Amino acid sequence: MAPFEVSILLCLLLLLPCVAISSTPNRGVRLELTHADDRGGYAGAERVRRAADRTHRRVNGLLGAVGKPSSTARLRIDGAGAGAAAMAAVHASTATYLVHIAIGTPPLPLTAVLDTGSDLIWTQCDAPCRRCFPQPSPLYAPAGSATYANVSCRTPMCQALQSPWSRCSAPDPGCPYYFSYGDGTSTDGVLATETFTLGSDTIVRGVAFGCGTENLGGTDNSSGLVGMGRGPLSLVSQLGITRFSYCFTPFNATAASPLFLGSSASLSSAAKSTPFVPNPSGALRKSSYYYLSLEGITVGDTLLPIDPAVFQLTPMGDGGLIIDSGTTFTALEERAFVVLARALAARVRLPLASGAHLGLSLCFGAAAPEAVDVPRLVFHFDGADMELRRESYVVEDRGAGVACLGMVSARGMSVLGSMQQQNMHVLYDLDKGVLSFEPAKCGEL
Ligand SMILES: *[C@@H]1O[C@H](CO)[C@@H](O)[C@H](O)[C@H]1NC(C)=O
Ligand SMILES: *[C@@H]1O[C@H](CO)[C@@H](O)[C@H](O)[C@H]1NC(C)=O
Ligand SMILES: *[C@@H]1O[C@H](CO)[C@@H](O)[C@H](O)[C@H]1NC(C)=O
Repeated sequence: MAPFEVSILLCLLLLLPCVAISSTPNRGVRLELTHADDRGGYAGAERVRRAADRTHRRVNGLLGAVGKPSSTARLRIDGAGAGAAAMAAVHASTATYLVHIAIGTPPLPLTAVLDTGSDLIWTQCDAPCRRCFPQPSPLYAPAGSATYANVSCRTPMCQALQSPWSRCSAPDPGCPYYFSYGDGTSTDGVLATETFTLGSDTIVRGVAFGCGTENLGGTDNSSGLVGMGRGPLSLVSQLGITRFSYCFTPFNATAASPLFLGSSASLSSAAKSTPFVPNPSGALRKSSYYYLSLEGITVGDTLLPIDPAVFQLTPMGDGGLIIDSGTTFTALEERAFVVLARALAARVRLPLASGAHLGLSLCFGAAAPEAVDVPRLVFHFDGADMELRRESYVVEDRGAGVACLGMVSARGMSVLGSMQQQNMHVLYDLDKGVLSFEPAKCGEL
C-alpha cells in the first residue's frame, strides 16, 4: 500500500480526523526548509549569538512545558544569560527552520515554523484577528477560503487537544483552544479544518489546525507553526505517514534544507538506528517529544566519566534527552556539560577565552580559530554511535579570535540541537519507533 492509503486506514483506526489526499504521491512529498536567519541576512558572529539566544529560550520553553512555568527558569545560562533573558521580552521567537506550504482554497502561501517538539498546526487568522504579530505575507482569512470548516467540541480532533489547551464550554459550538510554548510564544483561537497544499501538487483535505486570532511572540517572518511531534494533532500524525526525514545544511550556509514526508524519506543500509524512548509520565506536552537514550560521550579515545543517569528520564518523566529541530546548539545537562568541557580543554590546550559575546561558555583563544585542532567527539546512543565532525561542534568567530564549543549547559533536560545534526540525514521512523541517521551532503539530496 502507498503510505497515504495506509493513512486513511490509520486515521479510521485511531478515530482521527480523516485526512483525504487527492493527488496520491507515490514517492511522498519533498519540502524545503529555510533557516530563520537567512532572510535577515545574519551571518558570522551575529548568527551565532542569535542562535545561542534562541537556544536558551527554546530549552527554557521545552522545560517550562514539561512542568513548572518558564518563569522558574531552570536553565543555567552561561555568559549571555542576562542578555538572553532580556531579549526574550522583545524578541520572543525561537523559530529556527521555516517550512513553506499553502492553506485554503484558493491556496494562500504559508511560512511556518517547523517544530518537532509540539503537535498543533496553527496560523494567524483574520477571523477577525484580535492580536496578530507582523507577518510578511497576507493574513489567512477563513471567509476567503472555500474549504474552511469549523470543528465541534465533540470531535476527536478537538478532544485530542485535552486540558489545559482545550477551552470547550457548553454553550460554545466551536472548539476554542489556547496553546503556549513556554518561550513567550502563544496562540489563542479556534480549532478548524482546512485544505493544505504541500509541495507543488499534494493536496490534503480536512487537516485540523488552529485558527489563531490572538497570537503572541512573533515568529521571524513566519505566520504560524507546523507541529511534527508524536501526538495526534501533528502534521505527521494527521497525514498518517509513518516516516519523515530532514537534512540540515551547515549552520553557516544559506542553502535550503530538504524535508521528506512519507515514502520519500529513506536512508542507505549503512544508516544507524536508535530507539525513541517513551516518556513514562504520559504528561501532555512531554508525550510529543522525541526522546532518545544517550548512554555516553567519548572525547578522543576516552569515554567520559558521566553517570548515565544524567541523560535518563526519571520515573516521573523529568530529564532525559530529546532530539529537536528548533534548538540550534545541543544543550547538555550541566553535570555532563562540565565533564565534556574539561575533557575538551585538556586536549585542545589553548588559553580559554570569553565567549560571552556569542552566548557560548567554552571558547579557546587562537589567532586562527579555523585551524584549532579538536579531538574526536562521539555521542553514544543506544545502538548507534554518532560521531560529530569538527564543523558540527566547533563555532568560530574569526573577528574575535575564538573557537568555541557549539553546545550549552542546561538544567532539567538535554536537547540534541540542529547544529549537531548538520549534514546528517535524520529519519524519524514512527512505525519502527527508531531514529536513524547517516552522514550526508544535505545541499545535494
Ligand atoms: C523578513 O523578511 C524580509 C524580506 O523577506 C527581510 O527583509 C527581513 O529582514 C526578515 N526579517 C527577519 C527577522 O528575518
Ligand atoms: C464558524 O464559526 C464561527 C463562530 O461560531 C462563525 O461565525 C462562522 O460563520 C463559522 N464558519 C463556518 C464556515 O461555518
Ligand atoms: C562555514 O563553516 C565552515 C567550518 O567552520 C567553514 O569552513 C566555512 O568557510 C564557513 N562558511 C561560511 C560561508 O562562513
